[in-house]
Amino acid sequence: MRKLIAGNWKMNGLRADGLALARELARRAAATPLACDLLLCPPATLLAAVRDAVAGSPLQLGGQDCHTRQHGAHTGDVSAAMLRDAGCSHVILGHSERRIDHHETDALIRAKLAAARDAGLVAILCVGETAQERDAGRALDIVSRQLAGSLPDEMSAGAVAIAYEPVWAIGTGRTPKAAEIAQVHAHLRAELKGRLAAPEAVRLLYGGSVKPGNARELLAIANVDGALVGGASLVAADFWAIAQTGS
Ligand code: 13P
Repeated sequence: MRKLIAGNWKMNGLRADGLALARELARRAAATPLACDLLLCPPATLLAAVRDAVAGSPLQLGGQDCHTRQHGAHTGDVSAAMLRDAGCSHVILGHSERRIDHHETDALIRAKLAAARDAGLVAILCVGETAQERDAGRALDIVSRQLAGSLPDEMSAGAVAIAYEPVWAIGTGRTPKAAEIAQVHAHLRAELKGRLAAPEAVRLLYGGSVKPGNARELLAIANVDGALVGGASLVAADFWAIAQTGS
């Protein structure tokens, strides 16, 4: 399957930095075609500017969250329809930082996935255990529960990707062993059977301290169909190097 390398900028990027990063990646992508899909998920304030900066290149644009409704009296929120209107093809949902910072529940995330689907966006659903849960041997149970609770019933394989992001691997420089990632991804693939048609066509991404130095090994693991990259996606040369290993 063609891999998806997604950059989650999180709450980083003022206009000048964000535009320089997007322009540099667009320049490289135009000069050297990649064999993977490349997605930039800047903060909402930069969506339009990044869209214009990458116009004409194969780079795709995504949001980092959306509301469950498409419009209405929800001060400070952004809807899936608005993301789509701003040029997005994807939206990250259920990231552990939102689950923690905003107390997002599986039920809420499920409603957001339905909104993303209805707006024509591909949802990148994040799941993953804490260090405590892994140490207690509960990693598979946790991702199963998150998947079961946050994936709507009527999803097509092309409308969703699942990102396995162990909470303890995010921003820490630590990653699970290859065998541990393989186990979780095989488990997720199996859990998708019966939930939607063509479960083998759903991209399963790995996220958590993906860097140029470990990307090749991580992307070679069975059932790893791409990466969700945080810190390293803010440095053009690093994100580009990761994308090249995914090609
Ligand atoms: P880091 O790559 O900085 O560990 O972040 C991963 C992540 O949370 C991507 O969504």
